[in-house]
Amino acid sequence: MKIKEFTNESMHKIIEYFQEELKTNDLVCIEVLNPDICINEYAGYEITLDKKYIYRSYKAWNDLAELMFCKMLTPIISSENRVCLKFKKIDTNNSFHKSKNDEQNEKYGLNSTFFQINKNEEPAFLFPYMKALQNVKIKEKKQILNLGINKADEFEVIKNLLQKDELDEKSFIGIDYCSSAVDFAKNRFPNDNFTFLTHDINELDKLNLEKSDLIISIGTLQSSGLNFKLLFMSLIQNHLKEGGALILGFPNCRWMGGDMIYGAKAPNYSYSEQTLLYKDVYFCKKYLQQKKFRVTLTGKNYLFLTATSIKKV
Ligand SMILES: C[S@@+](CC[C@H](N)C(=O)[O-])C[C@H]1O[C@@H](n2cnc3c(N)ncnc32)[C@H](O)[C@@H]1O
Repeated sequence: MKIKEFTNESMHKIIEYFQEELKTNDLVCIEVLNPDICINEYAGYEITLDKKYIYRSYKAWNDLAELMFCKMLTPIISSENRVCLKFKKIDTNNSFHKSKNDEQNEKYGLNSTFFQINKNEEPAFLFPYMKALQNVKIKEKKQILNLGINKADEFEVIKNLLQKDELDEKSFIGIDYCSSAVDFAKNRFPNDNFTFLTHDINELDKLNLEKSDLIISIGTLQSSGLNFKLLFMSLIQNHLKEGGALILGFPNCRWMGGDMIYGAKAPNYSYSEQTLLYKDVYFCKKYLQQKKFRVTLTGKNYLFLTATSIKKV
């Protein structure tokens, strides 16, 4: 196996090396300064040991792996001052974004690649989502509506945040037009205070739902079959109680080859392009502020827009 040594070469040179190597190889191996040696330093710190080295943390090496569409494998200590790092290319074709499911409503269903994803095991999703739930004072909310519920991962997090009696006194409604996902969610949450409906969000009004005091929608409102702005405004006007709150999750990542890769996927772009993401997020923020909501924007791979009413009710 070819192992390339990098001691005091710049990151610019290292990136060029990766780009060239990955044209023909699935695996890139490098030998670098052991990151544990300079734990409190910033990347670029120069240190002279048996040779002159430039330091980078494991986080920096993992960032490089992500940018190169690779996974970093377990490092091996190769000598007193060095480690060997291996970077394995991920299969970028293995992604639900490329799914061509003829049955549109089953694109995210039981047999889809999407169904294998568990966002709740990704700290970059889970941590800001938990914070958003705390921000909207989840314990005080009684009627919770989730649009694009899929297999109900978002309710699982709420369940884990609450005591059993706190959970039992709430009413949960999840809506999705994917029947296999809805069936799965029903089995997962069989209690009476959970309702899952196979229904098109475009026809939400037909359900005559009671207004909710928390609406959650993650990775759904920007779907191609939905009119983002109209739907969003209708949610606030017709489906949210006075004094209610909202959590919207906007994906700023792509799921591929077993990884959550930073950067939103926009239609007609082969690389990550985030104009649409920021346009939609900004639209919501402005609209909600006009309607007297306090709006925060948090998260990284998923942007969480959290809105809480500041109207006196
Ligand atoms: C990207 S998935 C997100 C699912 C879940 N919230 C998550 O983040 O894991 C989008 C979900 O919205 C559902 N969906 C998309 N358009 C819909 C529509 N018009 N009516 C109902 N559900 C829809 C899909 O079936 C899918 O389950």
